[in-house]
Amino acid sequence: MAYKIKVWCFLLFLLKLVSNLQNCAHAAPQVPCFFIFGDSLADSGNNNHLVTTAKANYRPYGIDFLNGTTGRFTNGRTTVDIIGELLGFDQFIPPFATARGRDILVGVNYASGAAGIRDESGRELGDRISLNEQLQNHAATFNRSIQLLGTKQAATNYLNKCLYYVSLGTNDYINNYFVPGNYETSRLYTPDQYAKVLIDQYSQQIKRLYLFGARKIALPGLIPLGSIPYASSTLCLKNLSCVANINNAVLPFNAGLFSLVHQLNQELNDTRFIYLNISGMSSSDPSVPGSRVANVGCCPVLGSACILDSTPCVNRTEYVFWDAIHPTESSNQFTARRSYSAFLPSDAYPYDISHLVNMRI
Ligand SMILES: *[C@@H]1O[C@H](CO)[C@@H](O)[C@H](O)[C@H]1NC(C)=O
Ligand SMILES: *[C@@H]1O[C@H](CO)[C@@H](O)[C@H](O)[C@H]1NC(C)=O
Ligand SMILES: *[C@@H]1O[C@H](CO)[C@@H](O)[C@H](O)[C@H]1NC(C)=O
Ligand SMILES: *[C@@H]1O[C@H](CO)[C@@H](O)[C@H](O)[C@H]1NC(C)=O
Ligand SMILES: *[C@@H]1O[C@H](CO)[C@@H](O)[C@H](O)[C@H]1NC(C)=O
Ligand SMILES: *[C@@H]1O[C@H](CO)[C@@H](O)[C@H](O)[C@H]1NC(C)=O
Repeated sequence: MAYKIKVWCFLLFLLKLVSNLQNCAHAAPQVPCFFIFGDSLADSGNNNHLVTTAKANYRPYGIDFLNGTTGRFTNGRTTVDIIGELLGFDQFIPPFATARGRDILVGVNYASGAAGIRDESGRELGDRISLNEQLQNHAATFNRSIQLLGTKQAATNYLNKCLYYVSLGTNDYINNYFVPGNYETSRLYTPDQYAKVLIDQYSQQIKRLYLFGARKIALPGLIPLGSIPYASSTLCLKNLSCVANINNAVLPFNAGLFSLVHQLNQELNDTRFIYLNISGMSSSDPSVPGSRVANVGCCPVLGSACILDSTPCVNRTEYVFWDAIHPTESSNQFTARRSYSAFLPSDAYPYDISHLVNMRI
């Protein structure tokens, strides 16, 4: 008898274990889908088949990524990969270049290395999918979701619940404004005027997303771009006042984006916009023990990118940057965690992603 009870207990225990495991594997993510618009900070393979030097589909990129090299511009996961995990997705959001059929129902990653708010940004590197083209690709996704879900109303209801993450602007500075030999923007505009021109265009683009049913939109600001190793080494040739100029030029962009979030929350009052204070997070990171190397990237570079098949640093968590522009996975982890769940009240305005996804729309 005692033996039988033990067997039963064991079987019940196993059953419970199995059902718990199933819960783990099938726990629904906090939003049905996650759509990503951006540049190389978020690209997960869209540039692999474009004619451009802005590519990361070679070693040592991806050295710490599950599947090795994928086109991600870092050693491991990107910030949006980690945000996706925090949201409960058990797969990475597929890049537009390879998403097929029902794949799009979990969302799509449209991000493209070298892309900007302005169409011409990144032009000197080759092909890229600018934000305007990313929105055009999203129009195709919108049409496909109508086909998959039956009616426009059903598709809209579904898309209303998703999270949209739109992260551009870096290339409008480092592959446009601060490359006066190739672009005339710095002769046409002061940094304040340029920030306004960018934010005005961004505002129009973000409003197009609204027309496709987006109702929860996260807008990360820029890091102080003078602090990327590429700014000092290449754009400024070690000239410190040039580095300071680049840092200062980003300030009115971030201030404008913060105001835009405030304004859009009032104007489109059935939609929630949040500003993510990425520069604030990078300037005060209490979760980082000691000091990490920030003046050079982990891999040996030529210009901004890792040299093909070069050997990167071993202690990658001790570096802020992976190459001369892009953060390491460990930096991306800090950014993703604080974007999802704010560490300081100033990290996210008016609240963080974990609150945004739980808002009733
Ligand atoms: C990793 O590779 C496996 C096998 O090729 C594939 O099924 C899976 O989708 C890949 N995952 C990612 C995140 O690329
Ligand atoms: C989406 O469908 C609309 C209406 O049928 C059509 O006008 C539009 O061209 C389509 N857009 C794309 C990108 O497929
Ligand atoms: C350094 O940069 C500043 C600001 O861009 C510029 O005015 C100055 O001429 C530069 N100095 C040198 C030595 O190139
Ligand atoms: C939301 O905006 C609409 C028009 O833009 C306005 O009619 C309505 O009163 C606003 N609602 C609230 C609660 O502010
Ligand atoms: C961003 O964070 C920094 C540092 O925490 C803070 O000083 C700054 O005011 C924040 N900016 C906004 C717009 O909240
Ligand atoms: C990383 O490791 C290299 C080689 O072992 C060492 O020279 C370097 O000082 C280390 N860097 C840091 C920041 O610890």
